[in-house]
Parts: sequence; C-alpha cells; structure tokens
Amino acid sequence: MTDIPNIPFVDLASQQNRIRADIDKAMARVLDHGRYVMGPEVAELEAELSKFCGAKHSIGCSSGTDALAMVLMAKNLRAGQVIFCPSFTFVATAEVVAWLGAKVCFVDVEPDTFNMDPKALKAAIETAKANGEDLAGIIVVDLFGLPADYVSILKIAEENDLWLMSDAAQSFGARYHNAPIGTNGIATATSFFPAKPLGAYGDGGAMFTDDDELAEDLRSILFHGKGTSQYDNVRIGMTGRLDTMQAAVLLEKLKIFDSEIVERQKVADRYTSGLSDIVTCPHVPEGCQSVWAQYTTRLPQGLDRDALQAQLKDKGIPTAVYYAKPLHRQDAYKHNLIAGQTSDGVLPVTDALSLDVLSLPMHPYLSDDTQDYIIEHIRGAISDLS
Ligand SMILES: Cc1ncc(COP(=O)(O)O)c(C=O)c1O
Repeated sequence: MTDIPNIPFVDLASQQNRIRADIDKAMARVLDHGRYVMGPEVAELEAELSKFCGAKHSIGCSSGTDALAMVLMAKNLRAGQVIFCPSFTFVATAEVVAWLGAKVCFVDVEPDTFNMDPKALKAAIETAKANGEDLAGIIVVDLFGLPADYVSILKIAEENDLWLMSDAAQSFGARYHNAPIGTNGIATATSFFPAKPLGAYGDGGAMFTDDDELAEDLRSILFHGKGTSQYDNVRIGMTGRLDTMQAAVLLEKLKIFDSEIVERQKVADRYTSGLSDIVTCPHVPEGCQSVWAQYTTRLPQGLDRDALQAQLKDKGIPTAVYYAKPLHRQDAYKHNLIAGQTSDGVLPVTDALSLDVLSLPMHPYLSDDTQDYIIEHIRGAISDLS
C-alpha cells in the first residue's frame, strides 16, 4: 500500500517552498515596522492589484464575503429590496444580501459554463416585477474561475435600471474579452482565502471599482464609516480592513501569479485531453480565459458519484463536490427568497448540476505524472461503475 500517493487537492506547500525565503523577509519587514493595521504594504498591494487588473481603485479588505457586503452597504441596499444572484455558488454570495434584510431572487445557470444564464435572469426579473417587488441589483458570479457572460447580463441590467456587481471571489486573474477581471459592473469583489488562485495566509479580499465616489464610500465603510477620522463616523461601517501581514504575503504571491496562471491552464488542458470522451469537461466560451479556481466536470448521467469519489480516495485522489446543496435548497435562506423559489423545476439546471458535478485536484504544481495517474484512475473507476 506504500505506493498510494497522497495527492493534495490544492498544493499550498509547493508554492510556499518556491517563495518561502521572500515570504519570510516580507513578514519580517512587517514585524520590524510594526504597523499591523493599514501598514505600507496595504497601499503597495492595492497599487499592484490595480496595475494587474486595470481597475482605477483597488481596496484591500478583510474577506471576499466582506467585500460583497461592503459594496451592498455602499449601494444602500435596503431591507425588502431584491438582489438577483445564482443559487449555484458559495453561500457568501447570498449571505450578504440576507445580512442586510434584503431578498434574494435566485437565477438559474447555464449547463455548460455553470454561470448565470441571461435568459433565466430576464425571466426572473419579469416575474419579480410582476409580483411588485422592489428590485435593486444583480450579483454575477464567475464560478470556478470562469467569467460570466457580462455583455448580455449588463445589457439586461441597463434595460431594467439595475446595478451589477461582480462576485469574482474565484476569478481574480481570469480574463474576459481580453481584459482582466476587475472592471465589470459598478464594482468587483474578490477573495484571497488561502485556497483561491491568489490566496493569502489567512482571510483577505479586495474590492475594485472605477467609480471615485463609490471607492471613497468603501474606504469609509471598511473603517467603521469614518469621515475625517475613525472617531468621526459619517455612516454605519465595520472592521473590514486587510491586515498588513496578509498584504505582505500577497505582494510576494502576486509576483509569481502570472506564471501560476499559465501552469493552471496547462493542467486544465491536460485534464480536458485525457477525460473529454468520458466526462463533460468545462466549456470556456470564446473570448474568456478561466483562472481555474476549480476544474469541474459533469459525470455521465446516473453514475454513482459517491462510489466514484470513494474509489478515487482509495487511490489517494481527493475530489470535491461544489455544490451538492444549492442555496435555494438551504434552510437558512427559506425566509429571504422571493415567492416560489424552492419549488422543483424553478432552477432545473442548478438542481441537475448539484447531482452530477465533480471537481478534481487543481493547482499550478500538479506534475504531469501525477495528473496522468489521476486521469488513468478516473477512467478506470468510471468504466467499472458504468
Ligand atoms: C463565489 C464566492 N463568493 C464569495 C466567497 C467568499 O470569500 P471569503 O471566503 O474570502 O469570505 C467565496 C469564497 O469561497 C466564493 O467562492
């Protein structure tokens, strides 16, 4: 049994080995200057993030969840108003809407990109309008690192006088129509959770916007709604700042991010060429470049996913199901939905995906040999179970 490998789903250790000396020096600099909150590394990182993604304002913050929440707060989202977002996403996308007492209208996704379906959005807006709801905005998610169809969705947003923000927690580093993610809609929120393509060594996130006024409001909200100082409170805010230590780590990781994105693409390409005849591999539409936060396949209809996962686990291959229980099926959201959303058939693609998706190990340090081992065992297990 000694030859069963222990393959990590995300390999942060290899990345750390590559840059450990620089991380140590960066952390030591923070210990030396001692400005643990709002230290110079935060502003330095924000400047580098703007250079990377093209947004006029980059604002470091405490997490991807808080980034989403702070934009909603800056937009003065009120209790009872409606936000449109996918149900096939991580809980944070809808959680922040519920924090503010607003309602969620979940929108179905496309079966091949897993991202918000513009046709479903249009239909959901019509239904909500017919029900007399007070509509506010749309949160678009770039799931698994793939940009959503912003051109179509922005058009629908404009036609219906709704603002759009981008939940790019999984997609910082991706590209849409030859531009980096960071400038679609009024603002973009991202996460630096350790396992994200660009991850810190703890929680962190950022907000991006080209709007000067919105940027100023966000900087105030993340510091208890400060005006001229934190003791002059001009709005309700929170502790939403990015730690200096995390900014120092992210500055080092950003230096190798481009090369890691290239490696992620190679890993994705190898999976696709090794598996596309046996599972449905991710579809990347023309003009998009995914950053491959996850490599998520759809399994053949009726295949026992639990049994497949168990067989792969026995071979040292970790897999994950994102997301087995979509948000419209979660008890916590029963009271924040607009009418009728939990009925069967309202989000058919979301429900179908929750039953057949499977995410595979994905990181820039996956060797060809390890990947071939994974591919070989997936092929073997699927033919056993079919
Ligand atoms: C789509 C999506 N939105 C929001 C978040 C929240 O980010 P964080 O964990 O940094 O709060 C995540 C994190 O997993 C996410 O995947």
